[in-house]
Formats: sequence, structure tokens, C-alpha cells
Amino acid sequence: MIPGLAEYVSLRLLRRFLFTDAFLVRFGKFVPYYRTNANQLDAGPVVDLYADAMARSGLPLAANRSILEIGSGATNSVGYALLRRQLAGAKGRIYLFEPRARLDRRADANLRKRFGNDDLARVERIATLAVLPDRSIDLVLSHSVLEHVADMDGLLASLERVLQPAGSMIHSVDYRDHFFKYPYHFLLFRQKRWERWLNPGDLPRWRMSGHLEAFTARGFRTEVLDSHTLADTFEKIKRSISADFDPDDPALAIAAAVFRITRDPEKPSAPGQPSAIGRNQ
Ligand SMILES: C[S@@+](CC[C@H](N)C(=O)[O-])C[C@H]1O[C@@H](n2cnc3c(N)ncnc32)[C@H](O)[C@@H]1O
Repeated sequence: MIPGLAEYVSLRLLRRFLFTDAFLVRFGKFVPYYRTNANQLDAGPVVDLYADAMARSGLPLAANRSILEIGSGATNSVGYALLRRQLAGAKGRIYLFEPRARLDRRADANLRKRFGNDDLARVERIATLAVLPDRSIDLVLSHSVLEHVADMDGLLASLERVLQPAGSMIHSVDYRDHFFKYPYHFLLFRQKRWERWLNPGDLPRWRMSGHLEAFTARGFRTEVLDSHTLADTFEKIKRSISADFDPDDPALAIAAAVFRITRDPEKPSAPGQPSAIGRNQ
């Protein structure tokens, strides 16, 4: 018997059919097991992670550069924290691309109080990447976003267009089921059942290998800076994983990872469309 299956399924059904995203942005902190996004709580740890990955990638921390953060969420807090830490340098620009979540204007007004107009003019929230010129971005960042992306190839095509030839990306990805008490339970269901009944709407169940394949297919070079697995928890459900996932995928149990992406000078970019779930579909 799989531990917690009845609780998992009933609460996933509630999440799917009762709670809207807008409701959770406002009242999520009162909903049991719901975890508020980092940007709404504290941008500090997100920017610490970015700074650490930049340092480990050999990127100078204080150079003037154009940074694009994708999937910034309901606040611009990470943009302001990047500004304060001067990770775009003293004169660089910071773009925050958020295609879905509406800006929390009250939080934004509070956050902006700490900065002068010249600094604030260097942070811009955008709803589409189409406004950015070709090859205008030095560094792309994301935190807990890639696991939510439905059209990865569409996103990568846009990022490839806006990234400078020598530019790079740092993506921190959370591969756990976002019902965090059961970090691998979503691997138990066939695709049709997951999509029809259980998917909260924005969790296509990417595994790390699918993401790395998508970047490689687009002509990028990938480097995993960090990854970890919840081995004991995975062991408990391993034998019940849906046939949609590749049991031989060495990255199947990865719970979180940070990767660095650069252009691969030896490979021309080519469109590719690896699917979010296992390759044996
Ligand atoms: C879990 S939230 C993370 C927000 C923020 N980065 C943080 O760590 O607090 C995921 C965000 O990714 C955004 N997102 C989903 N699909 C996206 C896409 N294709 N491109 C950019 N952002 C996307 C969502 O709108 C949402 O704001």
C-alpha cells in the first residue's frame, strides 16, 4: 500500500477543482499544505542561490549586465533584491518576465519605497519576451519555474533569441510534486488521469532529463551545478511508478537541481520537442 494515497488524491482533487490560483495568491498562507512562492515571502534566499551559482560559474558578481528573470511571480521582489545586491552591476538592467501572475500592487508599492527613481527605472516587469531585442540579455535566471512550463520549446526559442552569444542562464528547478508532503506521488499516475483529475493546472511533471534534452535539442550546453534526491521517500513508491516514466532514467528521482546553460559553439540550434514526462511514452 502506498503511504498517504487517499489523503493525496482527495486533497489533489480539492486543489484542482476548488482553489483558483488567484485565491491561493491571496489566501494560500491559510490553506493547509499550500506553500507560498518564495518571491512573496522572502527574495533573499532566491538571490543568494543566484549569486552562489553565478560565482561558481565564474561570472563576475558586479559587472554591468542585462539580467532577465523568467517567471518572477506575483511580486517584483527578486528584481529589487538583485538591484540591492548589485548583481546587474551599478548600471545594469533587470527584466522580470511574468506571463500569468498579476502584480501584487500593494506589495510592490512597499518594496519600491526603499529605492530611488534612478534605480527603480532599471527594473522592468514584462508580460511577453517579444518586447526584448535580439541578443540583448547577458544572463537569464529562474527559480521554481521550469517545472511549470508547458511549452518548453517555445520558451527556449524565445530565450535563444534574446540571449547574447556569450550569455548564460541559471535555472533552479523543483522537481518535487508540489503537494510537498508527498514529493513523488505524482509519478504514480498515468498521463490521462493526471491531466483529467489531479494536475493543479501547471505541473506537467517534468523530470530533469527531459529539461536537459530540451536545452540540448536547442543547441545549448548544459551543466548541472547541484542536484539532490530524497532517496528514502523515493524508495517507498519506486515500484508503483506509472509506465509513462522511464524506470531507467538515472535522473527520475532528482528532487531539485540547479543548472547552468550556455550556447554550445559546436552545435547549431535546432527545434526539438522532448515531452515533459518519460521518453517511453
Ligand atoms: C512557482 S511560481 C515561482 C515564482 C518565483 N520565481 C518564485 O520562486 O517565487 C512559477 C511561476 O512560473 C511562471 N510561469 C509558468 N509558465 C511560464 C513560462 N512559460 N514562462 C515564464 N514563466 C512561467 C508562473 O506564472 C509562476 O509565476
